[in-house]
Amino acid sequence: MALTPRAQVRSTTARAAAKINLHLGVGELRDDGYHELTTVFQAVSLFDDVTVTDADALSVLTTGESADQVPDDPEQNLAARAVLRVDPDARLAIEIVKTIPVAGGMAGGSADAAAALVAAAVHVGAGWGRADLLAAAAELGSDVPFSVHGGTALGTGRGEELSPVLSRGEFHWVVAIAKTGLSTPAVFAELDRLRAKESGPVPAASPDALLRALAAGDVEEVARLLHNDLQPAAISLQPLLRRTLRAGTDAGALAGIVSGSGPTCAFLCADGEAAVRVAAELAAAGVAKSVRTANGPVPGARLV
Ligand code: C5P
Repeated sequence: MALTPRAQVRSTTARAAAKINLHLGVGELRDDGYHELTTVFQAVSLFDDVTVTDADALSVLTTGESADQVPDDPEQNLAARAVLRVDPDARLAIEIVKTIPVAGGMAGGSADAAAALVAAAVHVGAGWGRADLLAAAAELGSDVPFSVHGGTALGTGRGEELSPVLSRGEFHWVVAIAKTGLSTPAVFAELDRLRAKESGPVPAASPDALLRALAAGDVEEVARLLHNDLQPAAISLQPLLRRTLRAGTDAGALAGIVSGSGPTCAFLCADGEAAVRVAAELAAAGVAKSVRTANGPVPGARLV
């Protein structure tokens, strides 16, 4: 019996990493609704993979960590919106495999957008260079350019204007993923509310000392200088985070911080062995939905 030849179905996969803000200084609320930021990002080894496959229509399927919380409507899903930036008529099945927590303050949605931009640009032969990717990324969200960039970077503006940061050595983290997420706009609004009644933090000073500690690879000094202006707002909305932060330092982490707008808490540890011990203790303490180790810096969105 002769086999009917099938048209070859092509797929392209890209991977992007989660981020931790080592420093997040939040300035004024701008007329466009964004806050002026000064932030130091580090990409860490929790990854989402995005695959685009030839299909009859645009569709999105998400599997993995909290996949049920990711919208599959292409108008809302950030990866689908990224694919449409590359090709407004795209007929591709998009599959997102998540390990980065959803609504966790680790740029999970931004990572999906960054990976989707890279995968789609290569898949359709768009001929895009790095500048095209970064420009499209900035239109998709404030953290998407960093997800394309990776490594360690200083972000200004609303976080989308990047310059690379010299960072020596490897950093070992434990991340504690909370049982329920936090909405980024809600956390920024809570900071504005706290500041309006003068109980919020004043905008952090510039991160020069942190940049020097990163260049020197001085992990203890980096731990001492971790700072997040959004942390009081995240704790105000989820008071249990205070307990999580304490549990991590009690378990032996050098320092703990709410990651971005939270509620994920990130703990910097002296080395990989310390991170494994801290992760085990934090998991046993039952303060988080899940606890994972990660290292950084790692690269930005790339084909796999
Ligand atoms: O840019 P993105 O869509 O990720 O931002 C989500 C929300 O976070 C914004 O709508 C805004 O409420 C808040 N945000 C902010 N200032 C920034 C970045 C984000 O107020 N620099």
